[in-house]
Amino acid sequence: MKQLSFANNDTMPAIGLGTWKSQPGEVYNAVREAIRIGYRHIDCAFIYMNEAEIGQALSDAIAAGEVTRQELWITSKLWNNAHREADVLPALRKTLSDLQLDYLDLYLVHWPVAHQPDKVGVKTGADFVPLNEVPIAETWRGMEAAADAGLARHIGVSNFSVKKISDLLQTARIRPEVNQVELHPLLQQQALFDYCASENIYLTAYSPLGSGDRSAEMKAANEPSLLENPVINDIANKNGCTAAQVLIGWAAQRGTSVIPKSTNPGRLRQNLEASNLILAREDMDTIAGLDRHFRFINGQFWAMEGSPYTVASLWDE
Ligand code: A2P
Repeated sequence: MKQLSFANNDTMPAIGLGTWKSQPGEVYNAVREAIRIGYRHIDCAFIYMNEAEIGQALSDAIAAGEVTRQELWITSKLWNNAHREADVLPALRKTLSDLQLDYLDLYLVHWPVAHQPDKVGVKTGADFVPLNEVPIAETWRGMEAAADAGLARHIGVSNFSVKKISDLLQTARIRPEVNQVELHPLLQQQALFDYCASENIYLTAYSPLGSGDRSAEMKAANEPSLLENPVINDIANKNGCTAAQVLIGWAAQRGTSVIPKSTNPGRLRQNLEASNLILAREDMDTIAGLDRHFRFINGQFWAMEGSPYTVASLWDE
Protein backbone atom coordinates (compact mmCIF):
# COMPACT_ATOMS: atom_id res chain seq x y z
CA MET A 1 0.00 0.00 0.00
CA LYS A 2 1.32 3.42 -0.96
CA GLN A 3 1.84 5.71 2.04
CA LEU A 4 1.87 9.51 2.35
CA SER A 5 4.69 10.61 4.70
CA PHE A 6 4.55 13.53 7.12
CA ALA A 7 7.36 15.71 8.46
CA ASN A 8 7.38 13.76 11.77
CA ASN A 9 7.72 10.46 9.82
CA ASP A 10 4.13 9.38 10.43
CA THR A 11 2.58 7.71 7.39
CA MET A 12 -1.01 7.70 6.12
CA PRO A 13 -2.08 4.81 3.85
CA ALA A 14 -3.17 6.25 0.50
CA ILE A 15 -6.40 4.21 0.42
CA GLY A 16 -8.70 4.55 3.41
CA LEU A 17 -12.22 3.50 4.24
CA GLY A 18 -14.89 6.20 3.96
CA THR A 19 -17.71 5.96 6.51
CA TRP A 20 -20.06 8.79 5.44
CA LYS A 21 -23.48 7.19 4.77
CA SER A 22 -22.42 3.89 6.35
CA GLN A 23 -25.48 3.02 8.34
CA PRO A 24 -25.55 2.18 12.01
CA GLY A 25 -26.08 -1.57 12.09
CA GLU A 26 -23.82 -1.94 9.04
CA VAL A 27 -20.72 0.06 9.81
CA TYR A 28 -19.53 -2.22 12.63
CA ASN A 29 -19.22 -5.18 10.26
CA ALA A 30 -17.77 -3.00 7.51
CA VAL A 31 -14.96 -1.73 9.75
CA ARG A 32 -14.22 -5.20 11.19
CA GLU A 33 -14.10 -6.69 7.69
CA ALA A 34 -12.02 -3.80 6.37
CA ILE A 35 -9.41 -4.26 9.10
CA ARG A 36 -9.35 -8.03 8.58
CA ILE A 37 -8.57 -7.65 4.88
CA GLY A 38 -5.92 -4.99 5.41
CA TYR A 39 -7.40 -1.49 5.60
CA ARG A 40 -5.40 0.60 8.07
CA HIS A 41 -6.90 4.04 7.40
CA ILE A 42 -10.47 4.86 8.47
CA ASP A 43 -12.08 8.23 7.75
CA CYS A 44 -14.73 9.31 10.27
CA ALA A 45 -16.63 12.43 11.33
CA PHE A 46 -18.86 13.46 14.21
CA ILE A 47 -21.68 14.29 11.79
CA TYR A 48 -21.75 10.83 10.23
CA MET A 49 -23.52 9.78 13.45
CA ASN A 50 -21.80 6.41 13.54
CA GLU A 51 -18.59 7.04 15.48
CA ALA A 52 -19.68 5.02 18.53
CA GLU A 53 -20.26 1.94 16.38
CA ILE A 54 -16.95 2.45 14.59
CA GLY A 55 -15.28 2.80 17.98
CA GLN A 56 -16.68 -0.55 19.06
CA ALA A 57 -15.35 -2.15 15.90
CA LEU A 58 -11.89 -0.61 16.43
CA SER A 59 -11.83 -1.69 20.05
CA ASP A 60 -12.91 -5.25 19.22
CA ALA A 61 -10.42 -5.55 16.35
CA ILE A 62 -7.59 -4.39 18.62
CA ALA A 63 -8.73 -6.70 21.44
CA ALA A 64 -8.86 -9.62 18.98
CA GLY A 65 -5.24 -8.95 18.06
CA GLU A 66 -6.07 -8.18 14.41
CA VAL A 67 -4.38 -4.79 14.50
CA THR A 68 -2.70 -2.43 16.94
CA ARG A 69 -3.65 1.17 17.53
CA GLN A 70 -0.25 2.23 16.20
CA GLU A 71 -0.92 0.51 12.87
CA LEU A 72 -4.15 2.42 12.33
CA TRP A 73 -4.61 5.89 10.86
CA ILE A 74 -7.86 7.36 12.18
CA THR A 75 -9.22 10.68 10.91
CA SER A 76 -12.22 12.57 12.27
CA LYS A 77 -13.70 16.03 11.78
CA LEU A 78 -14.90 18.94 13.88
CA TRP A 79 -18.54 19.75 13.25
CA ASN A 80 -19.79 23.22 12.30
CA ASN A 81 -21.46 23.94 15.65
CA ALA A 82 -18.15 23.72 17.56
CA HIS A 83 -16.08 26.36 15.77
CA ARG A 84 -15.57 28.59 18.81
CA GLU A 85 -12.11 28.09 20.26
CA ALA A 86 -13.47 26.85 23.60
CA ASP A 87 -15.74 24.30 21.87
CA VAL A 88 -13.08 22.48 19.86
CA LEU A 89 -11.51 20.34 22.60
CA PRO A 90 -14.87 19.24 24.06
CA ALA A 91 -16.02 18.23 20.55
CA LEU A 92 -12.81 16.30 19.99
CA ARG A 93 -13.13 14.60 23.38
CA LYS A 94 -16.65 13.45 22.45
CA THR A 95 -15.34 11.97 19.19
CA LEU A 96 -12.44 10.29 21.02
CA SER A 97 -14.79 8.83 23.59
CA ASP A 98 -17.13 7.51 20.86
CA LEU A 99 -14.21 6.07 18.89
CA GLN A 100 -12.72 4.60 22.12
CA LEU A 101 -9.38 6.22 21.32
CA ASP A 102 -6.82 8.31 23.22
CA TYR A 103 -5.80 10.28 20.15
CA LEU A 104 -6.65 10.82 16.49
CA ASP A 105 -4.08 10.65 13.76
CA LEU A 106 -5.79 13.52 11.98
CA TYR A 107 -8.49 16.01 13.00
CA LEU A 108 -10.01 18.25 10.32
CA VAL A 109 -12.22 21.34 10.36
CA HIS A 110 -15.08 19.73 8.43
CA TRP A 111 -16.40 22.83 6.61
CA PRO A 112 -15.53 26.54 6.51
CA VAL A 113 -19.07 27.08 7.80
CA ALA A 114 -20.19 27.83 11.38
CA HIS A 115 -23.49 27.00 13.06
CA GLN A 116 -24.96 28.27 16.28
CA PRO A 117 -23.58 26.03 19.06
CA ASP A 118 -26.96 24.37 19.70
CA LYS A 119 -27.59 23.64 16.00
CA VAL A 120 -26.09 20.40 14.78
CA GLY A 121 -28.43 20.60 11.79
CA VAL A 122 -29.62 23.84 10.21
CA LYS A 123 -33.20 24.63 9.25
CA THR A 124 -33.13 28.40 8.71
CA GLY A 125 -30.59 31.06 7.89
CA ALA A 126 -30.58 32.12 11.55
CA ASP A 127 -29.02 28.79 12.53
CA PHE A 128 -25.70 29.85 10.96
CA VAL A 129 -22.99 32.12 12.30
CA PRO A 130 -21.04 34.16 9.75
CA LEU A 131 -17.30 33.59 9.54
CA ASN A 132 -16.58 37.19 10.55
CA GLU A 133 -18.15 36.36 13.94
CA VAL A 134 -16.32 33.07 14.44
CA PRO A 135 -13.31 33.35 12.15
CA ILE A 136 -11.47 30.25 11.00
CA ALA A 137 -8.38 31.71 12.72
CA GLU A 138 -10.24 31.32 16.04
CA THR A 139 -11.33 27.75 15.27
CA TRP A 140 -7.77 26.99 14.28
CA ARG A 141 -6.45 28.04 17.71
CA GLY A 142 -8.70 25.33 19.16
CA MET A 143 -7.30 22.84 16.62
CA GLU A 144 -3.76 23.85 17.60
CA ALA A 145 -4.66 23.27 21.25
CA ALA A 146 -5.81 19.76 20.25
CA ALA A 147 -2.44 19.12 18.63
CA ASP A 148 -0.57 20.62 21.62
CA ALA A 149 -2.48 18.31 23.96
CA GLY A 150 -1.50 15.27 21.87
CA LEU A 151 -5.15 14.50 21.16
CA ALA A 152 -4.64 14.94 17.41
CA ARG A 153 -1.26 14.01 15.91
CA HIS A 154 -2.01 16.05 12.79
CA ILE A 155 -4.54 18.78 12.07
CA GLY A 156 -6.05 19.97 8.84
CA VAL A 157 -9.10 21.25 7.02
CA SER A 158 -11.79 20.02 4.66
CA ASN A 159 -13.66 21.76 1.85
CA PHE A 160 -11.15 24.65 1.89
CA SER A 161 -10.35 26.72 -1.21
CA VAL A 162 -6.90 28.09 -2.09
CA LYS A 163 -7.99 31.45 -0.67
CA LYS A 164 -9.18 30.03 2.64
CA ILE A 165 -5.99 28.00 3.11
CA SER A 166 -3.77 30.94 2.26
CA ASP A 167 -5.72 33.14 4.72
CA LEU A 168 -5.32 30.46 7.39
CA LEU A 169 -1.58 30.22 6.75
CA GLN A 170 -1.27 33.93 7.62
CA THR A 171 -2.14 33.25 11.27
CA ALA A 172 -1.54 29.52 11.81
CA ARG A 173 1.11 28.59 14.37
CA ILE A 174 0.76 24.91 13.39
CA ARG A 175 0.26 24.45 9.66
CA PRO A 176 -2.63 22.41 8.27
CA GLU A 177 -1.18 19.19 6.82
CA VAL A 178 -4.22 17.89 4.93
CA ASN A 179 -7.16 19.36 3.02
CA GLN A 180 -9.94 16.85 2.36
CA VAL A 181 -12.06 17.80 -0.64
CA GLU A 182 -14.23 16.25 -3.31
CA LEU A 183 -11.91 14.97 -6.05
CA HIS A 184 -12.51 12.64 -8.98
CA PRO A 185 -12.04 12.77 -12.76
CA LEU A 186 -14.99 15.15 -13.22
CA LEU A 187 -13.64 17.49 -10.47
CA GLN A 188 -9.85 17.37 -10.60
CA GLN A 189 -9.24 20.79 -8.94
CA GLN A 190 -5.77 21.09 -10.48
CA ALA A 191 -5.16 24.65 -9.19
CA LEU A 192 -5.98 23.58 -5.63
CA PHE A 193 -3.89 20.44 -6.12
CA ASP A 194 -0.86 22.48 -7.28
CA TYR A 195 -1.27 25.07 -4.52
CA CYS A 196 -1.49 22.42 -1.79
CA ALA A 197 1.53 20.59 -3.23
CA SER A 198 3.51 23.86 -3.12
CA GLU A 199 2.54 24.31 0.54
CA ASN A 200 3.22 20.68 1.53
CA ILE A 201 -0.44 20.05 2.25
CA TYR A 202 -1.80 16.65 1.22
CA LEU A 203 -5.16 16.33 -0.45
CA THR A 204 -7.59 13.57 0.48
CA ALA A 205 -10.20 12.76 -2.16
CA TYR A 206 -13.76 12.32 -0.91
CA SER A 207 -16.66 11.04 -3.01
CA PRO A 208 -14.15 9.35 -5.34
CA LEU A 209 -16.89 7.11 -6.77
CA GLY A 210 -19.51 9.86 -6.98
CA SER A 211 -21.31 9.02 -3.72
CA GLY A 212 -24.28 7.49 -5.49
CA ASP A 213 -25.80 6.53 -2.13
CA ARG A 214 -26.52 10.16 -1.16
CA SER A 215 -30.11 11.00 -0.29
CA ALA A 216 -32.28 12.16 -3.18
CA GLU A 217 -32.39 15.75 -1.91
CA MET A 218 -28.60 15.95 -2.16
CA LYS A 219 -28.65 14.98 -5.82
CA ALA A 220 -29.01 17.28 -8.81
CA ALA A 221 -31.27 16.24 -11.66
CA ASN A 222 -29.38 14.43 -14.44
CA GLU A 223 -26.09 14.34 -12.62
CA PRO A 224 -23.37 12.36 -14.40
CA SER A 225 -22.25 8.90 -13.27
CA LEU A 226 -18.59 8.27 -12.61
CA LEU A 227 -18.94 4.50 -12.31
CA GLU A 228 -20.79 4.35 -15.66
CA ASN A 229 -18.55 6.82 -17.45
CA PRO A 230 -17.63 5.16 -20.78
CA VAL A 231 -14.03 6.43 -20.80
CA ILE A 232 -13.43 5.13 -17.27
CA ASN A 233 -15.00 1.81 -18.26
CA ASP A 234 -12.83 1.52 -21.40
CA ILE A 235 -9.74 2.02 -19.23
CA ALA A 236 -11.08 -0.54 -16.75
CA ASN A 237 -11.60 -3.11 -19.52
CA LYS A 238 -8.14 -2.46 -20.90
CA ASN A 239 -6.58 -2.99 -17.47
CA GLY A 240 -8.77 -5.96 -16.50
CA CYS A 241 -10.20 -4.17 -13.48
CA THR A 242 -13.40 -2.39 -12.47
CA ALA A 243 -14.39 1.25 -12.99
CA ALA A 244 -14.20 1.81 -9.22
CA GLN A 245 -10.63 0.51 -9.22
CA VAL A 246 -9.69 2.91 -12.02
CA LEU A 247 -11.13 5.83 -10.02
CA ILE A 248 -9.35 4.81 -6.81
CA GLY A 249 -6.09 3.91 -8.55
CA TRP A 250 -6.10 7.23 -10.42
CA ALA A 251 -6.46 9.15 -7.14
CA ALA A 252 -3.64 7.25 -5.46
CA GLN A 253 -1.37 7.52 -8.50
CA ARG A 254 -2.01 11.27 -8.60
CA GLY A 255 -0.53 11.53 -5.10
CA THR A 256 -3.71 12.06 -3.09
CA SER A 257 -5.15 9.81 -0.46
CA VAL A 258 -8.61 8.51 -1.26
CA ILE A 259 -11.45 7.23 0.91
CA PRO A 260 -14.01 5.16 -1.03
CA LYS A 261 -16.97 4.16 1.13
CA SER A 262 -18.33 0.65 1.11
CA THR A 263 -20.10 -1.62 3.54
CA ASN A 264 -20.04 -4.59 1.16
CA PRO A 265 -17.27 -7.17 1.73
CA GLY A 266 -16.59 -7.81 -1.96
CA ARG A 267 -16.41 -4.13 -2.80
CA LEU A 268 -14.28 -3.38 0.27
CA ARG A 269 -11.74 -5.87 -1.03
CA GLN A 270 -11.99 -4.65 -4.61
CA ASN A 271 -11.39 -1.05 -3.53
CA LEU A 272 -8.35 -1.91 -1.42
CA GLU A 273 -6.90 -3.97 -4.28
CA ALA A 274 -6.94 -0.84 -6.45
CA SER A 275 -3.61 -0.10 -4.76
CA ASN A 276 -2.07 -2.73 -7.09
CA LEU A 277 -3.26 -0.95 -10.23
CA ILE A 278 -0.68 1.00 -12.21
CA LEU A 279 -2.27 3.15 -14.91
CA ALA A 280 -0.23 3.89 -18.03
CA ARG A 281 0.70 7.51 -18.76
CA GLU A 282 -1.78 7.55 -21.65
CA ASP A 283 -4.60 6.42 -19.34
CA MET A 284 -3.70 9.15 -16.83
CA ASP A 285 -3.69 11.68 -19.70
CA THR A 286 -7.04 10.44 -20.98
CA ILE A 287 -8.55 10.79 -17.50
CA ALA A 288 -7.06 14.30 -17.19
CA GLY A 289 -9.20 15.21 -20.20
CA LEU A 290 -12.45 14.29 -18.41
CA ASP A 291 -12.33 17.25 -15.99
CA ARG A 292 -15.44 19.46 -16.08
CA HIS A 293 -15.39 21.00 -12.59
CA PHE A 294 -18.55 19.13 -11.63
CA ARG A 295 -19.34 18.92 -7.90
CA PHE A 296 -21.60 16.16 -6.59
CA ILE A 297 -21.44 17.92 -3.20
CA ASN A 298 -22.02 21.50 -4.31
CA GLY A 299 -22.59 23.05 -0.87
CA GLN A 300 -26.02 24.34 -1.85
CA PHE A 301 -27.28 23.08 1.54
CA TRP A 302 -25.28 25.88 3.26
CA ALA A 303 -26.80 28.54 1.00
CA MET A 304 -30.42 28.47 2.13
CA GLU A 305 -32.39 31.70 2.29
CA GLY A 306 -31.08 34.01 5.00
CA SER A 307 -27.78 32.11 5.34
CA PRO A 308 -24.62 34.24 5.43
CA TYR A 309 -23.04 31.64 3.11
CA THR A 310 -23.43 31.36 -0.65
CA VAL A 311 -22.12 28.68 -2.98
CA ALA A 312 -19.77 31.32 -4.43
CA SER A 313 -18.44 32.40 -1.01
CA LEU A 314 -18.06 28.77 0.08
CA TRP A 315 -15.77 27.74 -2.77
CA ASP A 316 -14.40 31.23 -3.57
CA GLU A 317 -15.31 30.72 -7.22
P1 A2P B 1 -21.69 -0.02 -1.09
O1 A2P B 1 -21.43 0.61 0.24
O2 A2P B 1 -22.95 -0.83 -1.12
O3 A2P B 1 -20.50 -0.78 -1.61
P2 A2P B 1 -18.26 7.28 -2.46
O4 A2P B 1 -17.09 6.58 -1.88
O5 A2P B 1 -17.90 8.12 -3.66
O6 A2P B 1 -19.06 8.05 -1.43
O7 A2P B 1 -19.25 6.19 -3.07
C1 A2P B 1 -19.91 5.25 -2.24
C2 A2P B 1 -20.95 4.51 -3.06
O8 A2P B 1 -20.28 3.67 -4.03
C3 A2P B 1 -21.79 3.58 -2.23
O9 A2P B 1 -23.07 3.52 -2.79
C4 A2P B 1 -21.07 2.24 -2.36
O10 A2P B 1 -21.97 1.17 -2.15
C5 A2P B 1 -20.62 2.30 -3.79
N1 A2P B 1 -19.41 1.51 -4.03
C6 A2P B 1 -18.34 1.35 -3.22
N2 A2P B 1 -17.40 0.59 -3.78
C7 A2P B 1 -17.87 0.25 -5.01
C8 A2P B 1 -17.36 -0.53 -6.08
N3 A2P B 1 -16.17 -1.12 -6.00
N4 A2P B 1 -18.15 -0.68 -7.18
C9 A2P B 1 -19.37 -0.09 -7.27
N5 A2P B 1 -19.89 0.67 -6.29
C10 A2P B 1 -19.15 0.83 -5.17
